[in-house]
Amino acid sequence: MTLFEPADIHPAWLPPEAFRAIGSRRTLVRGDGPLVDTVREEVKRACARYGGGVRHHTPDETGDQTAAGEPFDLVLALSAAGPLPAVAEMVQAEFRRRRGPTGHAIGDEGFVIARSGGVTVVLADEAAGLLHGLFHVVRLGEPAFGAARPPEHHRPAMPRRMLDHWDNVDVHPVMGQVERGYAGGSIFWRDGAPRGDLGRVRAYGRLLAACGVNAVTVNNVNVHTTEAHLLTDRLGDVAAIAAELRPYGIRVHLSAGFASPVVLGGLPTADPLDEDVRKWWAEATERVYETIPDFGGYVVKADSEGQPGPFAYGRDHADGANVLADALAPFGGVVHWRAFVYNHRQDWRDRSTDRARAAHDHFARLDGLFRDNVILQVKHGPIDFQTREPVSPVVAAMPATRVAVELQVTQEYTGQQRHVCYLAPMWSEVLGFRPWGPAGPAVAHLAGAAADGDGEAPDGRAPGEGGGLVGVSNVGDDAYWTGHPLAQANLYAFGRLAWAPWTDPAAILDEWIDLTFVPVATGDHEGLRRVLHTMMDGSWRTYERYTAPLGAGFMVRPGHHYGPDVDGYEYTPWGTYHFADRDGVGVDRTRATGTGFTGQYPPPWSQVYESLERCPDELLLFFHHVPYEHVLRGGSTVIQHIYDTHFTGVEQVAEARSLWETLAGTGSVPAALHARVKDLLDEQFRCAREWRDQINAYFLRKSGVPDVHGRHIP
Ligand code: GCU
Repeated sequence: MTLFEPADIHPAWLPPEAFRAIGSRRTLVRGDGPLVDTVREEVKRACARYGGGVRHHTPDETGDQTAAGEPFDLVLALSAAGPLPAVAEMVQAEFRRRRGPTGHAIGDEGFVIARSGGVTVVLADEAAGLLHGLFHVVRLGEPAFGAARPPEHHRPAMPRRMLDHWDNVDVHPVMGQVERGYAGGSIFWRDGAPRGDLGRVRAYGRLLAACGVNAVTVNNVNVHTTEAHLLTDRLGDVAAIAAELRPYGIRVHLSAGFASPVVLGGLPTADPLDEDVRKWWAEATERVYETIPDFGGYVVKADSEGQPGPFAYGRDHADGANVLADALAPFGGVVHWRAFVYNHRQDWRDRSTDRARAAHDHFARLDGLFRDNVILQVKHGPIDFQTREPVSPVVAAMPATRVAVELQVTQEYTGQQRHVCYLAPMWSEVLGFRPWGPAGPAVAHLAGAAADGDGEAPDGRAPGEGGGLVGVSNVGDDAYWTGHPLAQANLYAFGRLAWAPWTDPAAILDEWIDLTFVPVATGDHEGLRRVLHTMMDGSWRTYERYTAPLGAGFMVRPGHHYGPDVDGYEYTPWGTYHFADRDGVGVDRTRATGTGFTGQYPPPWSQVYESLERCPDELLLFFHHVPYEHVLRGGSTVIQHIYDTHFTGVEQVAEARSLWETLAGTGSVPAALHARVKDLLDEQFRCAREWRDQINAYFLRKSGVPDVHGRHIP
């Protein structure tokens, strides 16, 4: 296998220098199979650059005794690939002793790492684990070869860690090549055909494996005509992508249209209970597995924003999902069935319809009716990836269903990769939210996180049976992968949080900084680290400050969703309203006087959100309609909070911009990257000012309440 290194593309968190510690040492890679070959090739390439060496066999086996004593600095071995060097045998014995008879096995993707007698040992039961172990050593860098360390067991908290690409094969007249893509074109498709740059796909797989992602969906959830054919006559295009991602342990999934039996099969119906329809799905799926034996499964957006679904036939979503699940089951595939189902043609005059309620109203009653290989894919919030939303109540409402939580890595509503907005702190809050209060499980557990010392999975379900974490990808054919170079950190953090949801977002940022920037740090690396933390750690909250206040959401330009437009969606059919008038603002979602949405949560949150006094400030306008002079828990009035946060938010962007300027010419970051970020910060500052002034002016004009500090509001 030849490893690909695209010359004109930024290496993100895998620059050659990240492999220096490994590449300058002597490594033994023990085991066989394609993913072990990947490990060996990775080490070989690093050694070619940095002077180390890699072997497949021990000197005993080859009779080569030139290296006296223990000849290896690093042993990467499958545990069953004996004979292992004595130190690896010792590590294995020590791991088993510590684990005891009832402890966890290393696991499919897990590994054990230890250092003893000057040798670093990585052991795995399966090749995928060895690959993750290799990238762990890369992350550790030189310290991996420092002090002795006892066996540490690493394994992914969630077995399923998937990125969904909203990439179109054809350029869509409105949505373009990548729906909600802010990083150029697609890495898979261009103008109706495969892009042909499979080296880039391979490089992508490598980056994903290094942060822990193990599945990718290659086309948009909105399945248009050309894209529908990926399932049948254009399957070869998907197989070509799968072949590039396979060496990195990444499985390919496909977004499938629910009406495929009609659109592709020429049947008169797509009714999930129709025998011919069932047969069509079974046969189509069989052909998929003949072509791609490790195919992951389907992702389906049905009865949502114009996509066809089972409602057209008077069937429910369990009927719909199960027909695809049955087709996939013989091959071990899964169907990710999205819970993003709501009425997007609502009458804005109708105050009783609440979009936030929709997913729970549709799906909670179906709990227990889905096949085991259905994964209900739930957006983290009840509406649509806003900067601040409560956790979707659906996550806690379906104990007998495998639930995956969907995050939006692409920054549709969080600055579209023109604004710095490090999202890991938001995701971390979501994953750590405990729907039944502090004693109950967290969202990460409900999505399948193994207990790992932090609470058992609920309802007697074995850890790992949940649906995992899904992210909408932020990657395109841009030279920096993500448009904004600093948005790479979001992609990296998504993978790391899916692997280890309890990791501190600031620690993840450190990993990313060290891998990505050390190589060019001719200057002051610690200084660079401080700058990036100051700019990024709190950037989600900064973004929140200058955009829609207190959980109100939207207020964006309709259509493209960039920049402010307070009433842009107020009189539209989309169900996203703030109801601002001269007296107050916010959506009454209480049981007492509103839409009753608070009742979709279990206690204590059903009570906390219901109560004006106890509702967290940052979600106040999501749950309540309040007068402008309402006093927040933080002590300020709603109106004054709006003014204050908008002034502060813009100041913080200005500070970030000045801070970045201090790096100019220091050699801490490449000049071209510096220039790109500088330009984007200028745009962020411009846009943040626009947000501040439009929001402040709007609410000043509505309320007539002046800013207590007398600042200029246009
Ligand atoms: C949002 C987004 C759409 C997307 C949809 C989805 O509404 O704006 O472009 O199709 O989410 O998640 O399906």
